[in-house]
Amino acid sequence: MSYQNILFEIKNSVGIVTVNRPDKLNALNNDTIKELNDVFSEIKNNDDVSVVILTGAGEKAFVAGADISELNKLDLLSGKEFSEKGQEVFNLIENLDKPVIAAVNGYALGGGCELSLACHIRIASEKAKFGQPEVNLAVIPGYGGTQRLARLINSGRALEYILTGDMIDAGEAYRIGLVNKVYPTEELMPKTIDMAEKIASKGQTAVKMSVRAVVSCDELSQKEGQKLEAGLFGVCCGTEDFKEGTSAFLEKRKPNFTNK
Ligand code: COA
Repeated sequence: MSYQNILFEIKNSVGIVTVNRPDKLNALNNDTIKELNDVFSEIKNNDDVSVVILTGAGEKAFVAGADISELNKLDLLSGKEFSEKGQEVFNLIENLDKPVIAAVNGYALGGGCELSLACHIRIASEKAKFGQPEVNLAVIPGYGGTQRLARLINSGRALEYILTGDMIDAGEAYRIGLVNKVYPTEELMPKTIDMAEKIASKGQTAVKMSVRAVVSCDELSQKEGQKLEAGLFGVCCGTEDFKEGTSAFLEKRKPNFTNK
């Protein structure tokens, strides 16, 4: 499939999705939201992609939010629809089963911060800046941010950022657990690719089941979550990769996973 506002390439089982509107700081207009839906649907069904990296084009931004020129036209009804449509796409990313790593190379504001929150792992460059500045536009985060940010960094901190609209620099983002790692700008993509390739080298059923189990922890009680975990553990034990991984350990050799 070809895209206008998205770049997509696959290398060594790693899919790299780049939001590509650098002149608008990669702001998410409706077309880009639709293309994100299309590219992640394509990835879901593409066995050549084991791990995904999501980033933004240009020097300045990951994604600087929803496109404010389109936001400006919303009213009571269309605003709700707008939020629901974006939430659907971000839920697709979160529930992809394949790990999605956000490589945050600059501004991740509003919908951009929310997009990074829908990813499973966030890696930032030193110049990344996160924030939920919607309050400055007299609106609230509408792409899942009130929920995911509160769950990730706690509700008090989430409210501080949502109510003030203050930006969070990379150091602060690391300190509060919003990002997993921070690297100098030039190391962001090489280090993120290293992590993605490392994950892609593992047995992919175990990778998928890990993502599914951990993503569901927000929805389930401890008891329900453990029930799910036991079922997914069983799924892994039924794979050829599991026999290969355990046999390779016992035979003191490297495993050769075939994703079966
Ligand atoms: N929607 C639409 N256009 C956006 C945008 C957004 N969210 N963010 C940036 N742009 C556009 C600017 O309008 C400008 O376009 P122009 O060159 O045609 O005028 C271009 O991107 C560059 O942005 P600019 O503001 O000139 O860059 P800057 O370096 O001075 O400031 C920001 C960077 C991120 C601080 C500033 O762009 C900003 O505050 N953006 C909005 C962030 C926001 O509120 N996001 C949440 C939306 S819900």
